[in-house]
Amino acid sequence: MIVGASGQLGTDLMDAFADLNPVGLRHSEIAIENPRSVAEALDTHRPDLVINTAAFHNVQVCEHEPVRALEINTVAVGALARACAQRECSFATFSTDYVFDGEKDAPYVEDDKPRPINSYGLSKLGGELLVKVATPRHFIFRTSGLFGRIGSTSKGYTFIDRILQSAAAGERSTVVNDMTFSPSYTRDVAAAVRRVVDDADFGLYHVVNQGSCTWYEFALEALTQAGLRAEVTPISTAQWAADVRRPPNSSLANERLQKTGLPQPPNWRSAVARYIAERATGVQKV
Ligand SMILES: NC(=O)c1ccc[n+]([C@@H]2O[C@H](COP(=O)([O-])OP(=O)(O)OC[C@H]3O[C@@H](n4cnc5c(N)ncnc54)[C@H](OP(=O)(O)O)[C@@H]3O)[C@@H](O)[C@H]2O)c1
Repeated sequence: MIVGASGQLGTDLMDAFADLNPVGLRHSEIAIENPRSVAEALDTHRPDLVINTAAFHNVQVCEHEPVRALEINTVAVGALARACAQRECSFATFSTDYVFDGEKDAPYVEDDKPRPINSYGLSKLGGELLVKVATPRHFIFRTSGLFGRIGSTSKGYTFIDRILQSAAAGERSTVVNDMTFSPSYTRDVAAAVRRVVDDADFGLYHVVNQGSCTWYEFALEALTQAGLRAEVTPISTAQWAADVRRPPNSSLANERLQKTGLPQPPNWRSAVARYIAERATGVQKV
């Protein structure tokens, strides 16, 4: 059962698990913070595994609504894991690179100590901890900078589409150049999650496309791959969104995938190329 099935990652998870005929639930069909709605979904569909993508993940809004961030990302995710455990159902959920403070000068591995510096990161780390307490039969997948066929529903667009649309309209863009992350294509993340669920032990995994870049470098790569020219001005995080602290380096390494002997998602540049090609064929749903 996939919760948040119409979201950015949920859409590709539905494809990655298609041969198992997953039940996909939209927000209109389940509210994870509502125990009755959760119980009803679990008792109706009786899944072996629940994969949760639902989250309150607009970083800026979370900063102003920390209680709601904790209610959804910590308490509701923990309760969902507990409800699964009570029904002998395994549980998988997604966490974030924002559990780290960003001060490390190399990609973070699963054994690095989390130290969130904003409400979103804190609430997601809380979710991880409650899941661990609720059930040993859990997968926690930390990912970073997702892009995919449909925009993140909470933001309403994909970053790449915004850059390409501005370029096509002859508009200038300003993009942050002092935050490093691991851009990750939802297709590749979903495929890696499927391999872990099929072939690996429960636990915590980093699942990102390999490599890292700044948002500015990410924008330039998307423009290059799309064959577009545009004026893109690098700016600092402070110039962009001074009211929320964000980790300057939140790149992740898939160390556990590597140790487990599972293939890692390809480099982020190849992922951007495939995304742009897919976008050009109009295959993606917008
Ligand atoms: N996006 C990123 O760059 C990024 C980076 C690192 C980690 N992550 C994590 O990856 C996961 C998936 O992200 P995404 O980008 O695929 O998100 P998304 O596109 O916003 O998808 C989330 C889905 O969950 C639904 N949902 C939201 N709140 C819900 C609730 N309370 N109960 C039930 N359903 C709810 C949303 O529906 P509505 O939109 O209709 O509310 C949406 O369909 C999240 O856990 C996020 O924290 C994301």
